[in-house]
Amino acid sequence: MKPDDQILIIFGASGDLTKRKLLPSLFELFDRDMLPAHFVILGVARTKFTDEEFRKEQKKNLRQFLKGTPPSDERLELFLKSVQYITLDTEDTKEYCLLVKKIADIRKTENIPDRLLFYLAVPPQKYELIAGALKKTKLNDTGEKGGWRRIIVEKPFGSSLETAQRLNQYLCSIFEEDDIYRIDHFLGKETVQNILVLRFANQIFESLWNRNYIDSVEIYAQETLGVENRGKYYEGAGALRDMIQNHLMQLMGFVAMEAPSAFDAELMRDEVAKVFRSLHPLSVDDVIRGQYIAGEADGKKWLAYREEKGVEADSVTETYVAMRFYIDNWRWGGVPFYFYTGKRMVKTKSEIIINFKNVPHHLFTGMCAYSSCNRLVLKVDSPESISLKFGLKVPGSFFEVKQVSMDFAYDSLCNTYIANAYERLLLDAMQGDSTLYTRTDALELSWRFIDPILQEWAKNPEEGLIFYPAGSKGPEERKRLLQHFMPDGDIL
Ligand code: BG6
Repeated sequence: MKPDDQILIIFGASGDLTKRKLLPSLFELFDRDMLPAHFVILGVARTKFTDEEFRKEQKKNLRQFLKGTPPSDERLELFLKSVQYITLDTEDTKEYCLLVKKIADIRKTENIPDRLLFYLAVPPQKYELIAGALKKTKLNDTGEKGGWRRIIVEKPFGSSLETAQRLNQYLCSIFEEDDIYRIDHFLGKETVQNILVLRFANQIFESLWNRNYIDSVEIYAQETLGVENRGKYYEGAGALRDMIQNHLMQLMGFVAMEAPSAFDAELMRDEVAKVFRSLHPLSVDDVIRGQYIAGEADGKKWLAYREEKGVEADSVTETYVAMRFYIDNWRWGGVPFYFYTGKRMVKTKSEIIINFKNVPHHLFTGMCAYSSCNRLVLKVDSPESISLKFGLKVPGSFFEVKQVSMDFAYDSLCNTYIANAYERLLLDAMQGDSTLYTRTDALELSWRFIDPILQEWAKNPEEGLIFYPAGSKGPEERKRLLQHFMPDGDIL
């Protein structure tokens, strides 16, 4: 079913997110005929463009950022007909009356009811400012029957528990909680949603999904990328805020949650919040942080983090974090969970690994001595896959065991189009489905979990910061935490 007719208003329309992710995703939706019949994308930014100039610019960007077979000029132009633009200094609240007028004009000419979806693709310092201006101009309100308002807020949502709570309170004073869509693009990834189906549509996995059979859970996201041109943002974030507080926490929520009584946004999000509420408080000794120094990988030389644009020469911002933690409930009591994430690592890979317990007694040679032979590996980044690892007899040998893998690759489902994360999430917000968006309580609980570590680091900024060469597997000290599954873990 197509979403209701509506206007999607993107603040930050001349920025990176719009050109790399939002417009390409909207084009894909258009190409698959999933956009509303009466639909306008209204770009808002300070850069001066006419509608035509903005479309021309976005046509170039679409050519660059669309994946797969390039679309024809006609298709692109047809899509771009639904794109309009308004030059507006979002910091000048007086200018918002131009936006009010533009929206009224679009509604009239395109025959669109009073349904507005705002997307804040702007730096976080502007969230409150823009939301406040929307309130002042009454754009946050609809008086029309069947009308609605929704607002999508990008990450980072706050920089600590306190700032996240403040932002939540402020936004909730302007929009209804149900109309606030806090985006975490990891939840839009196909494999991430598949965790739920794998767990709750298959008896064989769910029966083993607990402390009786699971030895440990690893959730990691490592990238070869550095901070690119986002040095300034990253300086205020670091890996703990940038990747763990949101993306990896959400993945953990899906891995650890109980089955909801129905597949419903609120019930699902209740279960995730329950997991976050059961997290055992973190100890600073269970968290390792690192920062990359100059290094080499694939014949390329990489700068040190401190030499990147926008980064302080004596920065103590972490670009790598490894941590161990526990969930205090009946399902998970005593099972270690591990997160690790880093920039400028040896390879790009994101996975969830469920390590099952070893058999109680080893009969055969070659059996994994440390970690288990049985692992379920969900590869989250592209190409997405699921592998089940288990021990089998080496052919011709006496009774020697080798770990083998049964693999399912998503791209083997030919003819099945795999939507990217933003496509899925944009469509959900247009349809008013918030299942894959973060609710206030979960968001605040995730900040509550990592806040003590951030505070500890702020008190002792240099203590414990370990340097690792760009292009490596991260600081050697990671082994202190991760040695548990070192012997056969290829990523470590
Ligand atoms: C973003 C982080 O949210 O996620 C980036 O800010 C990171 O630092 C990115 O590179 C990773 O997402 P993906 O989808 O490319 O794995």
